[in-house]
This record gives sequence, C-alpha cells and structure tokens, in this order.
Amino acid sequence: MSRPMNSTLCFPRPSSSQTSTSSLPKSFLVRSPIPNFQELQKGYILLKVDKFGWSANNVTYQALGEHPHFRYYDFHPSPTSSSASVAPQTHGVVPVWGFGTVVASAHPSVAVGERLYGYFAPAKYLVLPIDEKDVNKFSMYVPRPHLPADRRVYNQIQRCSSDPLYTREKEDLTMLYRPLFWTSFWCEDWLACSGYRGGCEYILISSASSKTGFCLAYCFLMKVEKERQKKSSTTSEYRNMSNIRVIGLTSKTNLDFTRQLGLYHEVYDYDCFLSAFHAHHKTDAVSSKSQSRWIYIDVAGNQTLNSTIYTHFASPYTVSKLIATVSLGMTNLVPGEGSAKNIEWNTLNTKSSMMENNTTFSSSSLGFWPVTEQFFLPEWLAIRRVQLTPAQMLDMQKEAWQTLMRDCPGWVTLDSRGLGPDKGWIWSMWDARGPDVNQKAVKAKL
Ligand SMILES: NC(=O)c1ccc[n+]([C@@H]2O[C@H](COP(=O)([O-])OP(=O)(O)OC[C@H]3O[C@@H](n4cnc5c(N)ncnc54)[C@H](OP(=O)(O)O)[C@@H]3O)[C@@H](O)[C@H]2O)c1
Repeated sequence: MSRPMNSTLCFPRPSSSQTSTSSLPKSFLVRSPIPNFQELQKGYILLKVDKFGWSANNVTYQALGEHPHFRYYDFHPSPTSSSASVAPQTHGVVPVWGFGTVVASAHPSVAVGERLYGYFAPAKYLVLPIDEKDVNKFSMYVPRPHLPADRRVYNQIQRCSSDPLYTREKEDLTMLYRPLFWTSFWCEDWLACSGYRGGCEYILISSASSKTGFCLAYCFLMKVEKERQKKSSTTSEYRNMSNIRVIGLTSKTNLDFTRQLGLYHEVYDYDCFLSAFHAHHKTDAVSSKSQSRWIYIDVAGNQTLNSTIYTHFASPYTVSKLIATVSLGMTNLVPGEGSAKNIEWNTLNTKSSMMENNTTFSSSSLGFWPVTEQFFLPEWLAIRRVQLTPAQMLDMQKEAWQTLMRDCPGWVTLDSRGLGPDKGWIWSMWDARGPDVNQKAVKAKL
C-alpha cells in the first residue's frame, strides 16, 4: 500500500535567491511523506488539519515571515523536498488559524480523535511537539524556545471539548474572527487603560473594511453600550465614551460595504476624506471646542495616506489635534517587497510602564507628532496576564465572544473563493480545488 502523503503550502523566503524582486513570491504545494505512529517522536502528535481561515492577516504574516521581530516563518518549518528544491532554509510556511483532529499521538495526555483549534499550517497534516508538562484540561502548549516568550498566544492550542468559546456550528466564524477580533478587543482594552490617552472625541480607523478594522469599531460600540447598561448613563465614564465618534477610511470600492455594516459613525473613501475633515473642524470651531482630540488607528499601513493625514493635522488652520497614532495592521504590505524588512518595532513594554506611571500620552510630551505606537496582541496579552487573573480574562472574553457571535453572522459571507471585503475565506487542503493563495497575492499587488 502506498504511503499517505502530506501537502503543504510553502513560499520562497525573501532571503533565498528563489524570490525575484520583479514578481510576487509564488506559492508551492510541497508533497512529503507523513510519519507513521512508530516514527512519531515521543511527545509529538500528528494532526489532520481540517480547515483554516485566510485573510489579509495571513498575507501580513507572509510579508513579515523573516522580519526579525515577528519571524512568522519560524513557527512551522517547511518540509524538505529535493525534487521541488524546497527546504526550511529556502522556504517558509505562512501560519493559519484553523481546526484539526489528532490522528496519531505519542503524548500521554493527548488522545487520538481529539479536536483542536490553533495556529496551524496550510497543510493536510501537521506534526507538532507538545510540551511535557504544559498540558491541561483546556489547552496544550507547543514549545518554541527559539521564539520570544511572549508568543504564547500562538503556541497555545485549545482543546475544543473544554473550550468555553467553542461550538461546532460556529467553527468557520471562529477561524475567521477569533485572531482578528481578539486583536481589536484587546486593542480597545489597551486604549481604555490609558483613558483613551486622556480623552478623545474622534477615533479614526484606516482599512475600515478589514475585519480587524471593523471589529475595532464594533468593540468601541460594545464598550459604550456596556457602560450605558452597567451604570446609569450619567456616569462620567459613559458620558466621555458616548461622545466619541468612530470614523472609518476605506477604498472607494469598499465604501458601500463598510457603510452598510453600520459599525462606524461615518465612513469616507481615501480620496474624499479631507473635505469631510474640514467640515468637522468648522463644526468643532463653531461649537467652541478649542481643539478636538483624535486618535488614529492605522490598519492600512499606507505611508502616502499617513502623510496626508499628518499634514492635515499639522495645518495651522486646523482646530483638531492628533493625540495618538497607533499602527495596528499593514494591509498594504506586499509580500516579497523589500519594505517589510525596514519596518522598525518598539515593544509595548516601555509604553505600558508609561501607563503605570500615569504618564499621559500627548503630542506635546512627544514632540510635534505623536510617536507612532505599535500594537501587537501577544505583547499586550503578556502584560494583561500579570494584571488580571485568568478567570477575569476569560469572563471578559466570554462575554465579548457571545456578543460577537450574536452580531457578526451577517457581516461577511463565508466562502472559499471570490474577492472583496464581504467574503470571509475558509480553506482546506482537503478541498479538491485547493486554496487559491496566488489569487490573493495577485490582488495584493493592486
Ligand atoms: N497588531 C496585531 O497584533 C494584529 C493582529 C491581527 C491582525 N493584524 C493586522 O490587521 C490587518 C488586517 O487584517 P484582516 O485579516 O482583518 O484583513 P481583511 O479582513 O482581509 O481585510 C482586507 C482589507 O485590506 C485592505 N487592503 C489593502 N490593500 C489590499 C490588497 N492589496 N489586497 C487585499 N486587501 C487590501 C482593504 O481594505 P480598505 O479598502 O478598507 O483599505 C481590504 O478590504 C493585517 O495587516 C493584519 O496583519 C494585526
């Protein structure tokens, strides 16, 4: 009987000579043999990867595969195939969030047949080491000592049978939203911990049609609603928050989609937002607010757009003040482009100690422009794990997740094909048609 083979989607590493600067890195489906039970090393499991979500987030993982801070290609080594000239030194595997089933186990605490959710690979099968001791009723841990300790969120695999957020019928929504929604949820939490940088009137979000962008807008709405219900609507926290307006910026083609979501107070396209902003300034000036305070959350990572926004706020005629700029995403980053390796990264730790000292972030203390702060979910979670108990964090997440699952089903259509922000891609290497990753890559060039 012929041995079952694995199929893994791999991309050439930018550092390998196999990438050309003139074209986007082309994906390879690499076939490799699957270890049988006797070949499985002690402590390892063999997982059948049933399905996974794919979005701009994965394209960013690809673009930052070899970036020294993110190192997304260091989570799952690529298989070796001499016939395809593929090896871990020359190729990378883009991680994906998905569901799988254990088909062989050489770990005493993990049984065959168990269903798992985690940071897997776009492959039919995946061999993973499981930590000897870091296994409990809810999760198990993949040791990756070569990566920074704060990457726990990526290394932790959830056991579906005891995961309080798991339901079988919501698996597709879970794969799509779970990594992005938690980014938005904890980013809102991070901003709330600094009192929205001492208070603001406007939150501006670029790439407003992205799931990360509109989930953040949703998290602001949820927080306002929660404050309204929790206390009486006369409390100062509610009054402060209920005045915040959330404004989305998006491409012309995604404008209708983003508006009809109903998650933003206002949505403008990238070409037209300046005239709307001038109108805001007039209103603010007339309503005698000396300077309205704005926080800019950048999900697009488009430097031309950012220069336009900064120039607008720098104008001596503007009455608005940009009090914080947060880099949350980089939907404009194209895999294979040299710009990815030049991205500089400041870890959140310094910034959090500023918060602990109650230092207010303000443009005046940081120079003319607010320094761009980078929000990276694993770093903020590592800080919150020290500040909150696991039960507190679980309660916060459970409540938010239940609300999201109630509200999100109409936002995007779950699909494996088609372009547009209204599509949420669910892929499987078991699908006869296979994932069409290069379709996304081609779009990423537009
Ligand atoms: N900081 C963190 O810890 C963290 C965690 C999760 C995700 N993120 C980041 O958040 C970003 C959004 O991810 P997502 O999965 O939410 O995105 P998504 O739902 O797939 O959003 C796609 C959107 O990206 C924009 N876009 C710009 N150029 C594009 C191109 N060439 N091809 C396709 N879309 C393009 C478009 O929005 P517009 O037209 O509105 O610009 C498009 O509608 C990613 O960069 C991701 O890495 C960061």
